[in-house]
Amino acid sequence: MPNIKFYKNKEVPLELHRVEIVKQLSLLPVDERLKKMKEAGFNTFQLHNGDIFMDMLTDSGVNAMSNHQLSAMMQPDDAYAGSETFYKMQDKLAEIFGISHCLPAHQGRACENILATRFVKPGNCVVMNYHFTTAKAHITRLGGHVEELVKDEGLETKSTLPFKGDIDLDKLKKCIEEETPKNIAFMRIESGTNLIGGQPVSLDNIRKATKIARDKGILTVLDASLLQDNLFFNKTREKECKDMTIREITRAIADNFDIIYFSARKFGFARGGAILVRDEKLFHSMEDLVPMFEGFLTYGGMSIREMEAMTVGFDESMEMDVISQGPQFIKYCVDELVDYGVPMVTPAGGLGAHINAMEFVKHIPQTEYPAGALVCALYICGGIRGMERGTLSEEREPDGSERFASMELVRLAMPRRVFTLSQVEYVTDRVKWLFDHREMIGGLKFTHEPKTLRFFTGKLMPTSDWPDKLAAAFRKDFGKDC
Ligand SMILES: Cc1ncc(COP(=O)(O)O)c(C=O)c1O
Repeated sequence: MPNIKFYKNKEVPLELHRVEIVKQLSLLPVDERLKKMKEAGFNTFQLHNGDIFMDMLTDSGVNAMSNHQLSAMMQPDDAYAGSETFYKMQDKLAEIFGISHCLPAHQGRACENILATRFVKPGNCVVMNYHFTTAKAHITRLGGHVEELVKDEGLETKSTLPFKGDIDLDKLKKCIEEETPKNIAFMRIESGTNLIGGQPVSLDNIRKATKIARDKGILTVLDASLLQDNLFFNKTREKECKDMTIREITRAIADNFDIIYFSARKFGFARGGAILVRDEKLFHSMEDLVPMFEGFLTYGGMSIREMEAMTVGFDESMEMDVISQGPQFIKYCVDELVDYGVPMVTPAGGLGAHINAMEFVKHIPQTEYPAGALVCALYICGGIRGMERGTLSEEREPDGSERFASMELVRLAMPRRVFTLSQVEYVTDRVKWLFDHREMIGGLKFTHEPKTLRFFTGKLMPTSDWPDKLAAAFRKDFGKDC
């Protein structure tokens, strides 16, 4: 992909794969979409997939598999214990990361559960560049707390900083001093930092931050779920990595960590997860948690077929031609919208295009969930399902007051190898229309609010009849069938 040039220097992201299996989509008319949104309690997690045209909720478990992955799924070694499929997967991970001890788990949050259960005691702190919802939920569930140490500029939506996921090293030193190393359960660095817009971490920063932690005896943990996007940015934005292969960059990153875990719903183009542990003693100290929570040590709650697919997917994640498609489509989408004046998180990251809802609907106060409202408006206007990544995705403070997110984002995830460029054009078209009608969007309030991870199962309602009025305006411009 990176080497193919277009006549007259037009920049178009070009897929280096062809589609051989397709799934038919349908686009419900606007009035139907409005009805479905009401039924879903203004929570896009509650929509049925059949009612969605462009599912940009997540990149998790919805990436397209390759022909090689599908054929590998036909040759699993199915066994409760001692499956050869597991050993094959373990060997592949050892080849890529240089760590030979592997604990399988059914997805990323299951790895986070095991890590938190093993290492976090009440009152402990986990230092990190930025939290991920499930990682934080497991830490706080066990009485721990997180300290987010990303550079201040990492939280600015509009920026030119190439590695917004980098840890602020001064903040890190200060935090270790204040918390004391003894009280820090581990340091977690998240590659392709999800909640700040899929923003990468530099190899240089990883080296420096992990050295500071290691010198103080603090365990270092990499969340590699979004590593493949991060690797693309290391290669294209970091001078040191320019002439390194993706495998060399991966190893250079991995060498800094005691533990690496990932969701294979992202890394590996399949569905599963694993924890890699460098030290044998440490590995054995965690191993009992796998049969307790997941399944036996050679499947960890995963389907053997998925493990076969994953093993092939790990190799594919080491190919520049494969991992560059997502970030290039995302950049195309972001550039197109920025040119129109839509406030987007820049520079474009991995995982998806991120709209800055705080700016887009600046008339909606954070108490009325601006990103949550915008994501619903987008479904009503285009059948596009995005995800709220703002205050709704936070949990309340212990006293019941809102914890306002530092960013109010709408994430339009770009599942890997799934969409075509004309579908991306459709999305930008509907976002532009919505931007021109943004004053019509109003707020939301909870009608049912779960205590934990409320964004998954909560139900909301609009603060006025704005969804009906928005649908009417859309109908006027596009007709009732669109
Ligand atoms: C960075 C990161 N870590 C962990 C997870 C959790 O993984 P899973 O969804 O497989 O539980 C995710 C999921 O989106 C993620 O983005």
